Amino acid sequence: MEFTPHPGFVLWFTGLSGAGKTTLARAVEAELRARAMRVEVLDGDIVRQQLTRDLGFSKEDRDQNILRVGFVAQLLSRNQVAVLAAFISPYRDTRARVRAQTTHFIEVFVDAPLEVCAARDTKGLYARALAGEILHFTGISDPYEAPEAPEIHLRTDQLTVTECVQIILSALEARRLLPPAR
Ligand code: ADX
Repeated sequence: MEFTPHPGFVLWFTGLSGAGKTTLARAVEAELRARAMRVEVLDGDIVRQQLTRDLGFSKEDRDQNILRVGFVAQLLSRNQVAVLAAFISPYRDTRARVRAQTTHFIEVFVDAPLEVCAARDTKGLYARALAGEILHFTGISDPYEAPEAPEIHLRTDQLTVTECVQIILSALEARRLLPPAR
C-alpha cells in the first residue's frame, strides 16, 4: 500500500498565565502519542530555561522568544512532527509572523477571565504581580492581545479538560491532520 507521511502541524496555545495552556498541551500530547504520532511540546516555562534563557519580558524579549520558538516549531512541523507550543505570546503581530512561516498553524486561544486566572494563581505569580513585586506581568501590568480569529477558542472556565481536548482533536481530524483510527 502507498505510504503518505502524515503532515506535521503547529498547535499554538496562547493565553494568560494560568489559563490552562500547559495542561491542555500535555493532555493533547498524551492523545497524540496514543496514536503513535511524533510529538514535541514547546512550553514557555521550559524553553525559557534553555533556548531563550537570555530573555526577559519586555516586548522586544517576548517577541524574540516567540520568533525563536516559532522557527523551531516550523522546522519540526515540516518534518512531520506534531508541535504543541504553549506560550503567553501576547502580541498579535508576532503570532501572525509565526503563522505566516508555518504550513499548518492552528491557533488555540486558551481563554479564561483574568479574575479566574488570578484566583487559580497556580504559581503564586499573580499575588506577586499585584503586590508590585513582578513588573510587566501579563494581564496586570502588561498587555495581552486576544486573538481575533483563532482556529479554536476554548473557555477553560466553562469546559472540562476532556471537553477541550475533544474539541482540539476534532479540529485536527477535520483538517486531516490526525492519522486514521486503527
Ligand atoms: S511570552 O510572553 O514570551 O510568550 P512565556 O509563555 O514564554 O511568555 O513565559 C511565561 C511564563 O513566564 C509564565 O507562565 C510565568 O511562569 C513566567 N513569568 C515570569 N515573569 C512574567 C511576566 N512578567 N509576565 C508573564 N509571565 C511571566
